Amino acid sequence: MARRKLVVGNWKMNGNRAGNVELLAGLKALGPFVADVVVCAPFPYLADVALSLQGESIAWGAQDCSAHESGAYTGEVSAAMLAEFGCRYVIVGHSERRAFHAESDQLVADKAKAALAHRLTPIVCVGETLAEREAGQTDVVVKRQLSAVIHTLGHCVPQMVVAYEPVWAIGTGKTATPRDASTMHKRIRGWMEQRFGAAGADRSILYGGSVKPNNAAALMAGGDVDGFLVGGASLEAEAFLQIVRLVIP
Ligand code: 13P
Repeated sequence: MARRKLVVGNWKMNGNRAGNVELLAGLKALGPFVADVVVCAPFPYLADVALSLQGESIAWGAQDCSAHESGAYTGEVSAAMLAEFGCRYVIVGHSERRAFHAESDQLVADKAKAALAHRLTPIVCVGETLAEREAGQTDVVVKRQLSAVIHTLGHCVPQMVVAYEPVWAIGTGKTATPRDASTMHKRIRGWMEQRFGAAGADRSILYGGSVKPNNAAALMAGGDVDGFLVGGASLEAEAFLQIVRLVIP
């Protein structure tokens, strides 16, 4: 089975209702898409986004979910609630959540498990900080982050998507070189294959971190990057669309 191409827009904490309508109209006008295209909007907008994308070739997802099923977890949103609205994807373990909300590797793994239990595809983010990279710890950190998920999900791992997002490349305008990205993607794929054979190797691995229309083609060229998790550039329909077209020419 070929690895699926996928482009995911992570709007982060941006947007407003009027702006979202405009952005989605821009995306819809340029579809339909052959690649899997996903937008991950802030929670309050998800119902609007779901309605707007009904019958379109664009899926939608959330930027986080709770590791818990239900109960006294003020402020959290469960995977079951997302699934009830037709959500298909959920980002877990984004470096901003790991950094600003002290999310541990195990919590991220538990969130991925909760997502899968409700048939959402978790997009599990992994990636090293600049300090970790400079200390030569990139492999150790990424393997540790991935291992927690592999251990927790077991044979369900092949149902997730991995996004390699080096923290130093996020929102900084510094992109990993195509070679760095390819090397890391190969390693991640190797670890998945070691553990799950062909099913592990078949998983899509996205790259994220300052992806723009002018660097997406070079990042794809090595054949190890299956698509992108796009932050800033996903807030402009034309830029996001250009990236989508580079993934699926
Ligand atoms: P930027 O594309 O803005 O660097 O953000 C990347 C990211 O964090 C996507 O999840």
